[in-house]
Amino acid sequence: MKNWRAFFGLPVLLAGQALAWDHITEPGSLKAAIQANEHTLVACELSGTSHEKNQALETEWTKIQENEEGSQVVSVDCSQTPKACEELGVSSFPAIRLYHRDGRLDRYRGPRKTAAIQGYLRRALRPTVSHVTKKNETSFLLADDVVFVAYFAHSDSNLRERFAAVANKYRDRFSFGLSSDNDGKRQESILTCHNNPDQLQRSIAELSTADSLEGFVKLCATPLIPELTRRNEVSFYQSGKSLVHYFVHNDKQRDEYVTEIRPLAKKYEEYLHFTTTDADEYADAVAMMGLEPSVGGLSVQNPRNGDVFPYPGRQRLTAAVVEAFLVDIIQGRVQPWTGEHGQRGGQGGGGHDEL
Ligand SMILES: *[C@@H]1O[C@H](CO)[C@@H](O)[C@H](O)[C@H]1NC(C)=O
Repeated sequence: MKNWRAFFGLPVLLAGQALAWDHITEPGSLKAAIQANEHTLVACELSGTSHEKNQALETEWTKIQENEEGSQVVSVDCSQTPKACEELGVSSFPAIRLYHRDGRLDRYRGPRKTAAIQGYLRRALRPTVSHVTKKNETSFLLADDVVFVAYFAHSDSNLRERFAAVANKYRDRFSFGLSSDNDGKRQESILTCHNNPDQLQRSIAELSTADSLEGFVKLCATPLIPELTRRNEVSFYQSGKSLVHYFVHNDKQRDEYVTEIRPLAKKYEEYLHFTTTDADEYADAVAMMGLEPSVGGLSVQNPRNGDVFPYPGRQRLTAAVVEAFLVDIIQGRVQPWTGEHGQRGGQGGGGHDEL
């Protein structure tokens, strides 16, 4: 493929174009690679099946291979080397796995995106709990999206064990460190957390109960503007806060909105949940929030009384525009949606059980 492009004078890489898989084709080479390296990240695809997913991963994988020069990142096409894949026990495709030389294997379950997979690889290469000193603390705090650093009193060996257990459970998603600085003199144990995308820092000193560590990890890791899905919706409706929904059709739209609205979400954190939702996957929910599913947009929902306020405007949703709309709702200048607007999709307003 690359050759005929060069032949016709086309640039080998056009912007946004999928790069080609560079599969291991010798059945023995995969095994050899896994045995030769401390860690090997393997993508297993089955050409001819789930075409779209394969192609999406192919683009991301090529980027990862470029970025991770020197580390072992490989791929196999299990329709060409079925035996090798059989030995690895891969049964659903595409699959991403991290093989350790000592025989351990981790299955990657996160989003199939370059940044997420690379983050996962970096975490895997670190110890479960990194040793942090005053000298390298600052760089460690920026080494991942969500970073925990513990400052424990020396006597607290039980706490150290519990921290290690929680770190082990979540090490594939977040980074954990233990500061040795000054620890002989420390009287009180503290756990801190840096959520870098949201620029939020939290700390907790009440660490005595079994759930306190894990509760803190979950609190700190939840993004300021999370993605609402069927799996996590309950926790948002339970809090009694109103929801500011934003229904999107793609990741770019979501990223732009989150970047723009983050300061607003921080300002109103105590009273409102700002969320994003996939408008295509949850088209019924878009309609129930008084919006046109093919368009999406913003809608405010009060789960306690069922009121819904779809944003009627068409201008870009800047923080100022959204805040003005929220103030209008609070001051009673906007009436809740009656569920009967001709142009707006859906019937029946207020309910949230479909989301
Ligand atoms: C920080 O420095 C210490 C002492 O040199 C070292 O043992 C540790 O691995 C370093 N930690 C990180 C995260 O680089």
